[in-house]
Amino acid sequence: PAPGWAISADVVVVGSGVAGLTTALGCAAAGLSTVVVTKARLDDGSTRWAQGGIAAALGEGDTPEQHLADTLVAGAGLCDEEAVRTLVTEGPGAVHRLIAAGAHFDTSADGVIELTREGGHHRRRIAHAGGDATGVEISRALVEAVRDAGLRTIENALVLDLLTDAAGRTAGVSLHVMGEGQHDGVGAVHAPAVVLATGGMGQVFAATTNPAVSTGDGVALALRAGAEVSDLEFVQFHPTVLFLGTESEGQQPLVSEAVRGEGAHLVDASGVRFLLGQHELAELAPRDIVAKAIMRRMREQDADHMYLDARHFGAAMWERRFPTILAACRAHGIDPVTEPVPVAPAAHYASGGVRTDLHGRTTVPGLWACGEVACTGVHGANRLASNSLLEGLVFAERIAADIAALAPLTAGEPKSPDGPKSPDGLSALPPIAPEARAAIQRIMSLGAGVLRSDDSLRQAAAALEEVHRATADDGEKIPEPGVESWETANLLCVARVLTAAALEREETRGCHWREDRPDRDDAGWDRHLVVRMAPDRS
Ligand code: SIN
Repeated sequence: PAPGWAISADVVVVGSGVAGLTTALGCAAAGLSTVVVTKARLDDGSTRWAQGGIAAALGEGDTPEQHLADTLVAGAGLCDEEAVRTLVTEGPGAVHRLIAAGAHFDTSADGVIELTREGGHHRRRIAHAGGDATGVEISRALVEAVRDAGLRTIENALVLDLLTDAAGRTAGVSLHVMGEGQHDGVGAVHAPAVVLATGGMGQVFAATTNPAVSTGDGVALALRAGAEVSDLEFVQFHPTVLFLGTESEGQQPLVSEAVRGEGAHLVDASGVRFLLGQHELAELAPRDIVAKAIMRRMREQDADHMYLDARHFGAAMWERRFPTILAACRAHGIDPVTEPVPVAPAAHYASGGVRTDLHGRTTVPGLWACGEVACTGVHGANRLASNSLLEGLVFAERIAADIAALAPLTAGEPKSPDGPKSPDGLSALPPIAPEARAAIQRIMSLGAGVLRSDDSLRQAAAALEEVHRATADDGEKIPEPGVESWETANLLCVARVLTAAALEREETRGCHWREDRPDRDDAGWDRHLVVRMAPDRS
Protein backbone atom coordinates (compact mmCIF):
# COMPACT_ATOMS: atom_id res chain seq x y z
CA PRO A 1 0.00 0.00 0.00
CA ALA A 2 1.07 3.53 -0.68
CA PRO A 3 1.49 6.10 2.08
CA GLY A 4 -1.78 7.77 3.01
CA TRP A 5 -0.84 11.14 1.59
CA ALA A 6 2.02 12.80 -0.28
CA ILE A 7 3.28 16.27 -0.98
CA SER A 8 6.07 17.33 -3.32
CA ALA A 9 9.00 19.71 -3.02
CA ASP A 10 12.44 20.31 -4.52
CA VAL A 11 14.18 19.61 -1.22
CA VAL A 12 13.14 17.90 2.00
CA VAL A 13 15.29 18.65 5.03
CA VAL A 14 14.93 16.16 7.87
CA GLY A 15 15.72 17.76 11.22
CA SER A 16 15.53 21.26 12.61
CA GLY A 17 18.74 21.99 14.51
CA VAL A 18 21.40 24.39 13.32
CA ALA A 19 22.29 22.09 10.39
CA GLY A 20 18.75 21.48 9.17
CA LEU A 21 17.42 24.99 9.47
CA THR A 22 20.52 26.61 7.96
CA THR A 23 20.31 24.21 5.01
CA ALA A 24 16.60 24.87 4.59
CA LEU A 25 17.04 28.64 4.69
CA GLY A 26 19.85 28.41 2.13
CA CYS A 27 17.79 26.24 -0.22
CA ALA A 28 14.77 28.50 0.08
CA ALA A 29 16.91 31.58 -0.55
CA ALA A 30 18.08 29.90 -3.76
CA GLY A 31 14.46 29.64 -4.88
CA LEU A 32 14.00 25.93 -4.18
CA SER A 33 10.71 24.77 -2.69
CA THR A 34 11.82 23.36 0.65
CA VAL A 35 10.02 21.35 3.32
CA VAL A 36 11.43 20.86 6.82
CA VAL A 37 10.33 17.68 8.59
CA THR A 38 11.16 17.33 12.26
CA LYS A 39 10.43 14.67 14.85
CA ALA A 40 9.22 16.96 17.63
CA ARG A 41 8.85 20.75 17.60
CA LEU A 42 11.09 22.91 15.45
CA ASP A 43 13.17 23.97 18.43
CA ASP A 44 13.55 20.52 19.95
CA GLY A 45 16.71 18.54 19.32
CA SER A 46 20.31 18.88 20.41
CA THR A 47 21.07 22.40 19.16
CA ARG A 48 18.86 23.91 21.83
CA TRP A 49 20.87 22.15 24.54
CA ALA A 50 24.27 23.43 23.39
CA GLN A 51 25.82 25.44 26.19
CA GLY A 52 29.46 26.37 25.72
CA GLY A 53 29.23 27.91 22.31
CA ILE A 54 30.50 27.90 18.79
CA ALA A 55 34.20 27.77 17.97
CA ALA A 56 35.68 30.03 15.26
CA ALA A 57 38.86 32.03 14.81
CA LEU A 58 37.19 35.34 15.59
CA GLY A 59 39.55 36.74 18.22
CA GLU A 60 42.45 39.09 17.76
CA GLY A 61 45.58 37.12 16.92
CA ASP A 62 43.67 33.91 16.28
CA THR A 63 43.79 32.33 12.84
CA PRO A 64 42.09 29.45 11.05
CA GLU A 65 45.51 27.75 11.00
CA GLN A 66 45.61 27.67 14.82
CA HIS A 67 42.03 26.41 14.94
CA LEU A 68 43.01 23.75 12.39
CA ALA A 69 45.99 22.66 14.50
CA ASP A 70 43.88 22.23 17.65
CA THR A 71 41.18 20.33 15.73
CA LEU A 72 43.72 17.93 14.22
CA VAL A 73 45.30 17.20 17.61
CA ALA A 74 41.92 16.44 19.17
CA GLY A 75 41.00 14.23 16.19
CA ALA A 76 43.90 11.89 17.02
CA GLY A 77 45.13 11.28 13.48
CA LEU A 78 41.81 10.57 11.79
CA CYS A 79 40.60 14.01 10.70
CA ASP A 80 40.32 14.75 7.01
CA GLU A 81 42.58 17.78 6.84
CA GLU A 82 40.84 19.27 3.82
CA ALA A 83 37.48 19.06 5.59
CA VAL A 84 38.93 20.69 8.70
CA ARG A 85 40.52 23.44 6.60
CA THR A 86 37.12 24.09 5.02
CA LEU A 87 35.52 24.24 8.48
CA VAL A 88 37.99 26.64 10.03
CA THR A 89 38.40 28.98 7.05
CA GLU A 90 34.69 29.28 6.28
CA GLY A 91 33.77 29.27 9.99
CA PRO A 92 34.22 32.93 10.90
CA GLY A 93 32.17 34.09 7.88
CA ALA A 94 29.44 31.57 8.70
CA VAL A 95 29.21 32.88 12.28
CA HIS A 96 28.92 36.46 10.99
CA ARG A 97 26.14 35.37 8.60
CA LEU A 98 24.36 33.71 11.53
CA ILE A 99 24.58 37.02 13.39
CA ALA A 100 23.21 38.81 10.33
CA ALA A 101 20.35 36.29 10.32
CA GLY A 102 19.41 37.45 13.84
CA ALA A 103 21.45 35.52 16.42
CA HIS A 104 22.76 37.61 19.32
CA PHE A 105 26.06 36.57 20.87
CA ASP A 106 27.44 37.92 24.15
CA THR A 107 29.60 40.97 23.56
CA SER A 108 31.70 43.35 25.60
CA ALA A 109 30.43 46.89 26.25
CA ASP A 110 32.07 48.07 23.02
CA GLY A 111 30.35 45.40 20.94
CA VAL A 112 33.21 42.92 20.52
CA ILE A 113 32.14 39.25 20.64
CA GLU A 114 33.18 37.72 23.99
CA LEU A 115 35.15 34.52 23.62
CA THR A 116 35.71 31.73 26.12
CA ARG A 117 37.91 28.63 26.19
CA GLU A 118 37.10 24.94 26.19
CA GLY A 119 39.08 21.71 26.18
CA GLY A 120 41.71 21.31 23.47
CA HIS A 121 41.70 24.98 22.39
CA HIS A 122 44.94 26.84 22.98
CA ARG A 123 43.18 30.20 23.05
CA ARG A 124 39.86 31.86 23.67
CA ARG A 125 37.85 30.94 20.58
CA ILE A 126 34.29 30.10 21.67
CA ALA A 127 31.50 32.59 21.05
CA HIS A 128 28.53 32.20 23.38
CA ALA A 129 25.05 33.59 23.95
CA GLY A 130 23.00 34.14 27.09
CA GLY A 131 26.08 33.09 29.08
CA ASP A 132 25.65 29.35 28.70
CA ALA A 133 22.51 29.21 26.54
CA THR A 134 24.13 29.45 23.12
CA GLY A 135 21.99 26.75 21.54
CA VAL A 136 18.75 28.31 22.75
CA GLU A 137 19.66 31.58 21.03
CA ILE A 138 20.82 29.98 17.79
CA SER A 139 17.69 27.88 17.67
CA ARG A 140 15.48 30.91 18.39
CA ALA A 141 17.09 32.95 15.63
CA LEU A 142 16.88 30.18 13.03
CA VAL A 143 13.31 29.15 13.88
CA GLU A 144 12.27 32.79 13.59
CA ALA A 145 14.05 33.12 10.25
CA VAL A 146 12.34 29.96 8.97
CA ARG A 147 8.94 31.27 10.05
CA ASP A 148 9.66 34.69 8.53
CA ALA A 149 10.67 33.04 5.27
CA GLY A 150 7.35 31.15 5.27
CA LEU A 151 8.98 27.75 4.88
CA ARG A 152 6.71 24.74 4.97
CA THR A 153 7.40 22.71 8.12
CA ILE A 154 5.99 19.40 9.31
CA GLU A 155 6.48 18.94 13.05
CA ASN A 156 6.02 15.78 15.13
CA ALA A 157 6.95 13.62 12.15
CA LEU A 158 9.36 10.71 12.29
CA VAL A 159 10.95 9.99 8.94
CA LEU A 160 10.86 6.27 8.24
CA ASP A 161 12.71 5.59 5.02
CA LEU A 162 14.33 7.09 2.01
CA LEU A 163 12.18 6.64 -1.08
CA THR A 164 14.01 5.86 -4.29
CA ASP A 165 12.98 5.56 -7.91
CA ALA A 166 13.56 2.57 -10.17
CA ALA A 167 17.10 3.78 -10.93
CA GLY A 168 17.97 3.95 -7.22
CA ARG A 169 17.91 7.77 -7.11
CA THR A 170 16.47 9.58 -4.14
CA ALA A 171 12.78 10.35 -4.60
CA GLY A 172 11.81 11.60 -1.12
CA VAL A 173 11.00 10.18 2.29
CA SER A 174 8.16 8.34 3.97
CA LEU A 175 7.16 9.65 7.37
CA HIS A 176 4.86 9.08 10.29
CA VAL A 177 3.16 12.15 11.66
CA MET A 178 2.38 11.71 15.32
CA GLY A 179 -0.93 12.49 16.90
CA GLU A 180 -2.90 11.97 13.70
CA GLY A 181 -3.72 8.30 14.16
CA GLN A 182 -1.15 5.70 13.27
CA HIS A 183 -2.22 5.02 9.73
CA ASP A 184 -3.69 8.34 8.71
CA GLY A 185 -0.41 9.87 9.83
CA VAL A 186 1.84 7.90 7.48
CA GLY A 187 2.66 9.93 4.42
CA ALA A 188 5.44 10.94 2.08
CA VAL A 189 7.29 13.96 0.84
CA HIS A 190 8.40 13.41 -2.74
CA ALA A 191 11.59 15.30 -3.53
CA PRO A 192 14.72 14.69 -5.62
CA ALA A 193 16.95 16.06 -2.86
CA VAL A 194 16.86 14.84 0.75
CA VAL A 195 19.06 16.32 3.45
CA LEU A 196 19.48 14.34 6.65
CA ALA A 197 20.07 16.63 9.61
CA THR A 198 18.62 14.41 12.31
CA GLY A 199 21.32 14.90 14.94
CA GLY A 200 22.89 12.24 17.10
CA MET A 201 22.29 8.93 18.79
CA GLY A 202 23.06 9.59 22.46
CA GLN A 203 19.88 7.78 23.51
CA VAL A 204 21.53 4.52 22.56
CA PHE A 205 23.20 4.79 26.00
CA ALA A 206 21.49 4.78 29.40
CA ALA A 207 22.86 8.19 30.46
CA THR A 208 23.47 10.94 27.93
CA THR A 209 23.40 14.69 27.56
CA ASN A 210 21.24 14.24 24.45
CA PRO A 211 17.51 14.92 24.43
CA ALA A 212 15.00 12.09 24.04
CA VAL A 213 14.75 12.66 20.28
CA SER A 214 18.39 11.67 19.63
CA THR A 215 17.73 8.06 18.67
CA GLY A 216 20.06 7.62 15.69
CA ASP A 217 17.21 7.81 13.17
CA GLY A 218 19.30 9.38 10.40
CA VAL A 219 22.14 6.88 10.59
CA ALA A 220 19.68 3.97 10.69
CA LEU A 221 17.77 5.36 7.70
CA ALA A 222 21.01 5.90 5.78
CA LEU A 223 22.13 2.33 6.51
CA ARG A 224 18.83 0.97 5.26
CA ALA A 225 19.19 3.12 2.15
CA GLY A 226 22.63 1.63 1.45
CA ALA A 227 24.65 4.76 2.26
CA GLU A 228 28.14 4.47 3.72
CA VAL A 229 28.46 5.15 7.43
CA SER A 230 31.81 5.68 9.11
CA ASP A 231 33.56 6.07 12.48
CA LEU A 232 30.59 5.00 14.63
CA GLU A 233 32.95 3.65 17.29
CA PHE A 234 34.01 7.19 18.15
CA VAL A 235 31.35 8.17 20.67
CA GLN A 236 32.38 11.16 22.69
CA PHE A 237 31.69 11.04 26.42
CA HIS A 238 31.46 14.52 27.90
CA PRO A 239 33.67 14.61 31.00
CA THR A 240 31.51 16.82 33.18
CA VAL A 241 27.86 15.83 33.30
CA LEU A 242 25.98 16.54 36.51
CA PHE A 243 26.05 13.30 38.50
CA LEU A 244 22.59 12.44 39.77
CA GLY A 245 23.27 8.88 40.93
CA THR A 246 24.13 5.67 39.13
CA GLU A 247 20.46 4.87 38.60
CA SER A 248 19.75 8.13 36.81
CA GLU A 249 18.94 7.41 33.15
CA GLY A 250 18.00 9.36 30.05
CA GLN A 251 19.01 12.97 29.44
CA GLN A 252 21.35 14.32 32.14
CA PRO A 253 22.26 18.00 32.69
CA LEU A 254 25.50 19.12 31.06
CA VAL A 255 28.06 21.21 32.93
CA SER A 256 29.76 23.01 30.05
CA GLU A 257 33.48 22.81 29.35
CA ALA A 258 33.30 26.58 29.42
CA VAL A 259 33.04 26.36 33.23
CA ARG A 260 36.55 24.88 33.15
CA GLY A 261 37.42 27.41 30.45
CA GLU A 262 36.70 30.15 32.99
CA GLY A 263 38.84 28.50 35.64
CA ALA A 264 36.92 25.72 37.43
CA HIS A 265 39.01 22.83 38.78
CA LEU A 266 38.33 19.12 38.65
CA VAL A 267 38.95 17.61 42.07
CA ASP A 268 38.44 14.32 43.84
CA ALA A 269 36.56 13.90 47.10
CA SER A 270 39.64 15.09 49.01
CA GLY A 271 39.85 18.25 46.92
CA VAL A 272 42.97 17.15 44.98
CA ARG A 273 43.32 18.46 41.40
CA PHE A 274 44.14 15.24 39.61
CA LEU A 275 44.57 16.69 36.07
CA LEU A 276 47.62 18.69 37.05
CA GLY A 277 50.75 17.18 35.57
CA GLN A 278 48.79 14.90 33.24
CA HIS A 279 48.59 17.29 30.28
CA GLU A 280 49.99 20.74 29.54
CA LEU A 281 46.42 22.09 29.39
CA ALA A 282 45.38 20.35 32.68
CA GLU A 283 41.56 20.63 32.98
CA LEU A 284 41.46 22.07 29.46
CA ALA A 285 43.07 19.06 27.79
CA PRO A 286 41.04 17.55 24.93
CA ARG A 287 37.81 15.98 26.08
CA ASP A 288 38.90 12.34 25.79
CA ILE A 289 41.91 12.93 28.02
CA VAL A 290 39.83 14.62 30.70
CA ALA A 291 37.14 11.92 30.57
CA LYS A 292 39.79 9.20 30.90
CA ALA A 293 41.48 10.96 33.82
CA ILE A 294 38.15 11.18 35.61
CA MET A 295 37.38 7.51 34.98
CA ARG A 296 40.84 6.46 36.23
CA ARG A 297 40.50 8.50 39.40
CA MET A 298 37.03 7.12 39.98
CA ARG A 299 38.38 3.63 39.64
CA GLU A 300 41.40 4.24 41.90
CA GLN A 301 39.15 5.64 44.58
CA ASP A 302 36.20 3.33 44.03
CA ALA A 303 34.04 6.40 43.47
CA ASP A 304 31.16 6.92 41.05
CA HIS A 305 31.86 10.60 40.42
CA MET A 306 34.36 13.42 40.83
CA TYR A 307 33.76 17.12 41.48
CA LEU A 308 33.98 20.38 39.59
CA ASP A 309 34.94 23.16 41.95
CA ALA A 310 34.07 26.69 40.89
CA ARG A 311 33.14 28.18 44.23
CA HIS A 312 35.74 30.87 43.60
CA PHE A 313 33.59 32.28 40.75
CA GLY A 314 31.23 33.73 43.36
CA ALA A 315 27.48 34.19 42.98
CA ALA A 316 27.62 37.16 40.58
CA MET A 317 29.81 35.38 38.04
CA TRP A 318 27.76 32.17 38.24
CA GLU A 319 24.57 34.16 37.65
CA ARG A 320 25.94 36.21 34.76
CA ARG A 321 28.03 33.63 32.96
CA PHE A 322 26.37 30.28 33.69
CA PRO A 323 22.71 30.87 34.55
CA THR A 324 21.46 27.65 32.90
CA ILE A 325 23.93 25.42 34.73
CA LEU A 326 23.38 27.23 38.00
CA ALA A 327 19.62 26.68 37.72
CA ALA A 328 20.05 23.00 36.76
CA CYS A 329 22.35 22.37 39.73
CA ARG A 330 20.06 24.18 42.14
CA ALA A 331 17.05 22.27 40.80
CA HIS A 332 18.88 19.13 41.98
CA GLY A 333 19.77 20.58 45.37
CA ILE A 334 23.39 21.48 44.57
CA ASP A 335 24.66 25.04 44.92
CA PRO A 336 27.85 25.55 42.89
CA VAL A 337 28.44 28.86 44.64
CA THR A 338 28.99 27.11 47.94
CA GLU A 339 29.87 23.51 47.09
CA PRO A 340 31.74 21.53 44.41
CA VAL A 341 29.46 20.07 41.73
CA PRO A 342 29.40 16.24 41.42
CA VAL A 343 30.20 15.22 37.84
CA ALA A 344 30.84 12.08 35.80
CA PRO A 345 31.25 11.37 32.06
CA ALA A 346 28.16 10.55 29.96
CA ALA A 347 27.54 9.94 26.26
CA HIS A 348 27.50 13.24 24.41
CA TYR A 349 28.32 13.24 20.72
CA ALA A 350 28.67 10.88 17.76
CA SER A 351 31.90 11.84 16.01
CA GLY A 352 31.04 9.42 13.19
CA GLY A 353 27.94 9.15 11.05
CA VAL A 354 26.84 9.13 7.42
CA ARG A 355 29.92 9.61 5.25
CA THR A 356 29.90 12.72 3.11
CA ASP A 357 32.19 14.66 0.84
CA LEU A 358 32.94 18.35 1.23
CA HIS A 359 29.55 19.24 -0.27
CA GLY A 360 27.71 17.07 2.22
CA ARG A 361 26.88 14.48 -0.44
CA THR A 362 26.47 10.93 0.84
CA THR A 363 27.21 7.88 -1.30
CA VAL A 364 23.52 7.65 -2.32
CA PRO A 365 22.68 10.01 -5.19
CA GLY A 366 20.30 12.74 -4.07
CA LEU A 367 20.96 12.19 -0.34
CA TRP A 368 22.98 14.73 1.66
CA ALA A 369 23.82 14.67 5.38
CA CYS A 370 24.68 17.56 7.67
CA GLY A 371 25.53 18.10 11.34
CA GLU A 372 25.93 15.37 13.94
CA VAL A 373 24.33 12.72 11.71
CA ALA A 374 27.10 13.25 9.16
CA CYS A 375 30.71 12.18 9.09
CA THR A 376 32.37 14.94 7.07
CA GLY A 377 35.83 14.07 8.39
CA VAL A 378 36.24 17.15 10.55
CA HIS A 379 36.10 15.33 13.88
CA GLY A 380 38.29 12.30 13.31
CA ALA A 381 38.48 10.13 16.42
CA ASN A 382 37.39 12.88 18.81
CA ARG A 383 35.56 16.14 18.12
CA LEU A 384 37.13 19.35 19.36
CA ALA A 385 34.82 21.19 21.77
CA SER A 386 32.31 23.55 20.13
CA ASN A 387 33.18 22.51 16.59
CA SER A 388 29.77 20.87 16.20
CA LEU A 389 27.58 23.96 15.85
CA LEU A 390 30.20 25.34 13.48
CA GLU A 391 30.19 22.18 11.38
CA GLY A 392 26.40 22.37 11.15
CA LEU A 393 26.57 25.96 9.92
CA VAL A 394 29.45 25.66 7.47
CA PHE A 395 28.38 22.43 5.80
CA ALA A 396 24.72 23.50 5.68
CA GLU A 397 25.76 26.50 3.60
CA ARG A 398 27.79 24.24 1.31
CA ILE A 399 24.93 21.75 0.92
CA ALA A 400 22.43 24.48 0.04
CA ALA A 401 24.86 25.85 -2.54
CA ASP A 402 25.46 22.37 -3.95
CA ILE A 403 21.76 21.56 -4.33
CA ALA A 404 21.09 24.98 -5.84
CA ALA A 405 23.90 24.43 -8.37
CA LEU A 406 22.41 21.06 -9.39
CA ALA A 407 18.88 22.45 -9.81
CA PRO A 408 16.55 21.84 -11.48
CA LEU A 409 16.47 18.28 -10.14
CA THR A 410 13.57 16.01 -10.97
CA ALA A 411 12.27 13.23 -8.77
CA GLY A 412 11.46 9.87 -10.31
CA GLU A 413 8.41 7.86 -9.32
CA PRO A 414 9.09 6.38 -5.86
CA LYS A 415 8.89 2.62 -5.65
CA SER A 416 7.84 1.01 -2.38
CA PRO A 417 10.67 0.05 -0.01
CA ASP A 418 12.54 -3.19 -0.69
CA GLY A 419 13.08 -5.95 1.82
CA PRO A 420 11.27 -6.73 5.04
CA LYS A 421 8.37 -4.48 5.73
CA SER A 422 6.47 -3.34 8.74
CA PRO A 423 3.14 -5.16 9.13
CA ASP A 424 1.32 -2.37 7.32
CA GLY A 425 3.83 -2.59 4.47
CA LEU A 426 4.65 1.10 4.72
CA SER A 427 8.22 0.86 5.86
CA ALA A 428 11.27 -1.31 5.30
CA LEU A 429 11.77 -0.97 9.03
CA PRO A 430 10.32 -3.75 11.17
CA PRO A 431 9.38 -2.03 14.42
CA ILE A 432 10.64 -3.33 17.76
CA ALA A 433 8.70 -3.33 21.02
CA PRO A 434 9.49 -0.08 22.89
CA GLU A 435 10.09 -2.15 26.04
CA ALA A 436 13.41 -3.24 24.47
CA ARG A 437 14.74 0.33 24.58
CA ALA A 438 15.87 0.30 28.22
CA ALA A 439 17.58 -3.06 27.71
CA ILE A 440 19.46 -1.77 24.65
CA GLN A 441 20.59 1.34 26.56
CA ARG A 442 21.86 -0.65 29.54
CA ILE A 443 23.63 -3.16 27.33
CA MET A 444 25.41 -0.31 25.55
CA SER A 445 26.40 1.61 28.67
CA LEU A 446 27.76 -1.52 30.28
CA GLY A 447 29.59 -2.98 27.32
CA ALA A 448 30.28 -0.20 24.82
CA GLY A 449 30.51 2.84 27.08
CA VAL A 450 33.41 5.06 27.98
CA LEU A 451 35.60 2.05 28.87
CA ARG A 452 35.51 -0.89 26.50
CA SER A 453 37.27 -4.22 26.11
CA ASP A 454 37.05 -7.21 23.83
CA ASP A 455 35.06 -9.02 26.53
CA SER A 456 32.65 -6.20 27.28
CA LEU A 457 32.01 -5.55 23.59
CA ARG A 458 31.45 -9.24 22.82
CA GLN A 459 28.95 -9.44 25.66
CA ALA A 460 27.19 -6.33 24.40
CA ALA A 461 27.10 -7.67 20.83
CA ALA A 462 25.66 -11.00 22.00
CA ALA A 463 23.03 -9.31 24.15
CA LEU A 464 22.00 -7.04 21.26
CA GLU A 465 21.73 -10.07 18.96
CA GLU A 466 19.45 -11.63 21.54
CA VAL A 467 17.19 -8.55 21.47
CA HIS A 468 17.26 -8.67 17.66
CA ARG A 469 16.52 -12.39 17.49
CA ALA A 470 13.68 -12.13 19.97
CA THR A 471 11.97 -9.78 17.54
CA ALA A 472 13.10 -11.15 14.21
CA ASP A 473 12.49 -14.86 14.90
CA ASP A 474 8.99 -14.48 16.10
CA GLY A 475 6.71 -12.54 13.81
CA GLU A 476 4.09 -12.52 16.53
CA LYS A 477 6.31 -10.38 18.69
CA ILE A 478 6.56 -7.65 16.06
CA PRO A 479 4.57 -4.82 17.60
CA GLU A 480 2.14 -2.51 15.92
CA PRO A 481 4.11 0.13 14.02
CA GLY A 482 4.36 3.42 15.85
CA VAL A 483 6.91 6.09 16.57
CA GLU A 484 8.31 4.49 19.72
CA SER A 485 8.67 1.09 18.14
CA TRP A 486 10.35 2.53 15.04
CA GLU A 487 12.72 4.56 17.21
CA THR A 488 13.57 1.42 19.14
CA ALA A 489 14.36 -0.33 15.86
CA ASN A 490 16.65 2.56 14.92
CA LEU A 491 18.39 2.39 18.31
CA LEU A 492 18.98 -1.33 17.93
CA CYS A 493 20.29 -0.89 14.40
CA VAL A 494 22.86 1.76 15.35
CA ALA A 495 23.78 -0.04 18.59
CA ARG A 496 24.69 -3.19 16.67
CA VAL A 497 26.78 -1.38 14.08
CA LEU A 498 28.50 0.79 16.70
CA THR A 499 29.38 -2.23 18.84
CA ALA A 500 30.71 -4.17 15.86
CA ALA A 501 32.93 -1.22 14.90
CA ALA A 502 34.20 -0.81 18.46
CA LEU A 503 35.02 -4.52 18.60
CA GLU A 504 36.85 -4.38 15.31
CA ARG A 505 39.03 -1.38 16.18
CA GLU A 506 41.62 -3.10 18.33
CA GLU A 507 43.39 -0.04 19.66
CA THR A 508 42.75 3.00 21.84
CA ARG A 509 42.39 6.23 19.89
CA GLY A 510 40.57 9.49 20.61
CA CYS A 511 37.33 8.77 22.40
CA HIS A 512 37.48 5.02 21.65
CA TRP A 513 39.07 3.58 24.79
CA ARG A 514 39.89 -0.12 24.82
CA GLU A 515 41.21 -1.32 28.18
CA ASP A 516 42.64 -4.43 26.56
CA ARG A 517 44.39 -2.42 23.80
CA PRO A 518 45.56 0.65 25.68
CA ASP A 519 47.82 2.07 22.95
CA ARG A 520 47.22 3.89 19.74
CA ASP A 521 48.29 1.69 16.82
CA ASP A 522 49.20 3.92 13.90
CA ALA A 523 50.64 1.06 11.88
CA GLY A 524 47.43 -0.98 11.96
CA TRP A 525 44.64 1.46 12.62
CA ASP A 526 45.41 4.76 10.95
CA ARG A 527 42.23 4.29 8.93
CA HIS A 528 38.46 4.53 9.07
CA LEU A 529 35.92 1.77 9.49
CA VAL A 530 33.25 2.20 6.84
CA VAL A 531 29.99 0.24 6.91
CA ARG A 532 27.50 -0.19 4.12
CA MET A 533 24.48 -2.47 4.26
CA ALA A 534 22.72 -3.84 1.22
CA PRO A 535 19.78 -1.47 0.81
CA ASP A 536 17.22 -4.22 1.37
CA ARG A 537 18.46 -5.15 4.86
CA SER A 538 16.65 -4.16 8.00
C1 SIN B 1 30.03 22.18 26.35
O1 SIN B 1 29.49 23.25 26.50
O2 SIN B 1 30.83 21.68 27.13
C2 SIN B 1 29.67 21.37 25.15
C3 SIN B 1 30.46 21.86 24.03
C4 SIN B 1 30.50 20.81 22.97
O3 SIN B 1 29.98 19.72 23.12
O4 SIN B 1 31.16 21.07 21.97
